[in-house]
Amino acid sequence: MFKEISAKEIDGNLIKAIADEWMLISAGNEQGYNMMTASWGFAGEVWGNDSVMALIRPQRYTMDYVNQNEYFTLSFYGDRKDIHSVCGSKSGRDVDKTALTGLTPVFSDNTVYFDEARLVIICKKQYVDIMKKECFIDKTPLDCYKENDFHYMIIGKIEKVLVAA
Ligand SMILES: Cc1cc2nc3c(=O)[nH]c(=O)nc-3n(C[C@H](O)[C@H](O)[C@H](O)COP(=O)(O)O)c2cc1C
Repeated sequence: MFKEISAKEIDGNLIKAIADEWMLISAGNEQGYNMMTASWGFAGEVWGNDSVMALIRPQRYTMDYVNQNEYFTLSFYGDRKDIHSVCGSKSGRDVDKTALTGLTPVFSDNTVYFDEARLVIICKKQYVDIMKKECFIDKTPLDCYKENDFHYMIIGKIEKVLVAA
């Protein structure tokens, strides 16, 4: 059971939630969907909208679904690190992560999220770009890209925020 709140009513520090609690990024519908753990991302304002930015490497199966769908979700699960040990280490290409985690998919608002979430942020894709080596002013982060797998940066307009009721 969820209740809708506005983005500005989200409780707590979202930077801390993303970095320490972690989140699932999911996209798709009844015909097919996928989700993965993420601990990098942003929330803020752009183009007059409450927005998020997800950072997804090109080889993630989830990126296929983000590319194919107009919407994606970020969802948070408190201390359920068991969910992230599956969704952050296994690919939906190889295993059924829904079965392995026991998560309950909810298909709503043109996208997918999970009933076990404490917080769900439903986003409409607005801008997708990929990081470019030549754009790094500080070269230190290039250590993260030894395989040239630069992140996609996906800016999403926050369409709806749900909290567990
Ligand atoms: C704590 C944690 C944080 C992660 N954060 C990200 C991230 O922000 N972006 C990313 O592309 N991968 C991230 N990953 C890796 C993906 O979750 C992982 O590769 C996953 O198995 C991809 O699944 P998929 O192929 O089904 O999409 C993270 C993994 C963990 C354990």
